[in-house]
Amino acid sequence: MSTRNRARRSCLAVPGSSQKFIDKARTLPADQVFLDLEDACAPLAKPGARKTIVAALNEGGWGERIRVVRVNDWTTEWTYRDVTEVVEGAGANLDAIMLPKVQTAEQVVALDLLLTQIEKTMGYEVGRIGIEAQIENALGLTNVNAIATASPRVETIIFGPADFMASINMKSLVVGEQPPGYDVGDAYHHILMSILMAARAHDKQAIDGPYLQIKDVDGFRRVAGRSAALGFDGKWVLHPGQIDAANETYSPRQEDYDHAENILDAYEWYTSEAGGKRGAAMIGDEMIDEASRKMALVISGKGRAAGM
Ligand code: GLV
Ligand code: MG
Repeated sequence: MSTRNRARRSCLAVPGSSQKFIDKARTLPADQVFLDLEDACAPLAKPGARKTIVAALNEGGWGERIRVVRVNDWTTEWTYRDVTEVVEGAGANLDAIMLPKVQTAEQVVALDLLLTQIEKTMGYEVGRIGIEAQIENALGLTNVNAIATASPRVETIIFGPADFMASINMKSLVVGEQPPGYDVGDAYHHILMSILMAARAHDKQAIDGPYLQIKDVDGFRRVAGRSAALGFDGKWVLHPGQIDAANETYSPRQEDYDHAENILDAYEWYTSEAGGKRGAAMIGDEMIDEASRKMALVISGKGRAAGM
């Protein structure tokens, strides 16, 4: 089944070269796990990590977690072997491939074509394996709309803040925090909004990237809170200590979820024959109408996906 609409509040990064972290990941309450062949995996460790990942996916034990593998980007010599080895070996037990440092729509099309070839060769269902596209540089952000629509396989657009900061020469080494000297707003607002607009325009999920100060859970909550407030669906987590914070931050608050369900119930009643076929009505002191129903659907949808 496609994982397009499943909750991705917490997306756990796991080095594909570490059996210990892979075993631990199976026990953690993350919505998604991605086994990494890219930056968390040293060049000499990549061939071995491909084998470790194939075995880990085929062994199972992942429960409801969305299973993703991050391959290396197309400017390296590793991408095609990453994809062929992992998908031929474990494509039936894999939900999506994450493609980092995407710069153009063509790079997504290339991955789509390669996946289709492997699916046909292996007798898998064609088109089931999704693509998660990481936006990590200026060119990728410029092309984000074309990237989002490059293939029906694209399920998420992900912000990669560390590479992005390097790509634009941002004068800071602390990922996700405001660069020193910039005191006129949020330096990430334009980037986050551009990714979110492309995602929402084309019915994809928008995912925020990592927060590297893994001991600082309050800092994680603060930075996650910004993208969650805008409408992002989830965030990477690098450490078990960040998972609960992500699951909470990207779920609606219980009172908002309850209120959304009330609005939906009330709307159904007052627009019905018995309720007077009205276009608007009051809940307490608040007037609600069709637009209120749409907002309530968003909160209720996120809550239901999160099992509320
Ligand atoms: C993640 O890949 C990042 O570069 O932030
Ligand atoms: Mg990166």
